[in-house]
Amino acid sequence: MKFFVDSADVDAIAELNDLGMVDGVTTNPSLILKSGRDIVEVTREICAIVSGPVSAEVVALGADAMIAEGRKLADIAENIAIKVPLTWDGLKACKTLTSEGRMVNVTLCFSANQALLAAKAGATFISPFIGRLDDINLDGMELVADIRTIYDNYGFETEILAASVRSVNHMRAAALIGADIATAPPAVIRKMAEHPLTDKGLEGFLRDWKKTGQKIV
Ligand code: E4P
Repeated sequence: MKFFVDSADVDAIAELNDLGMVDGVTTNPSLILKSGRDIVEVTREICAIVSGPVSAEVVALGADAMIAEGRKLADIAENIAIKVPLTWDGLKACKTLTSEGRMVNVTLCFSANQALLAAKAGATFISPFIGRLDDINLDGMELVADIRTIYDNYGFETEILAASVRSVNHMRAAALIGADIATAPPAVIRKMAEHPLTDKGLEGFLRDWKKTGQKIV
């Protein structure tokens, strides 16, 4: 499973990228707000760090305006994936922009039927929002599994980008289902390294090592 970082925090992205943990980045208007940066500047900086796709989201509602914004965002760097919402106009914009050879991430997907339409419209990525479905007592991971089945049934090449990931359990479940990508906040990716038995085991080894009185370097 590829890891995208769901953030516009350049330092956090760079740290994970140095570790080989970053196959791409996703941003959205809320993450740009959180960064306090100008969208073009911060996106350009991220694209210079990460070689994989970097999603930048349009904010227009009509297809023509989305296409214009998408083209402008795509001019920032070669690895831009234009993010459009899963609306009828978003699907139109997706079709046009992918026909021009650009990567498109169709976002805010909450149903299998929406995902089917996105694949038909040629989306490069479909982003089912797991956490936001869980928030309203629905099963976000069930949606990812449904999309996996549907795309595999018909050989759609659209990549499933599990989004709105809030926990390490989401990461594990997305990987088991076979999501192509999961996009997660930096803190969730870091937390995947944690286990209480690792900490406990290390504590014991270090205690015993101290008793040996030896040094390695
Ligand atoms: C993904 O592309 C979205 O930016 C993101 O995963 C949304 O996550 P949230 O529901 O935690 O805001």
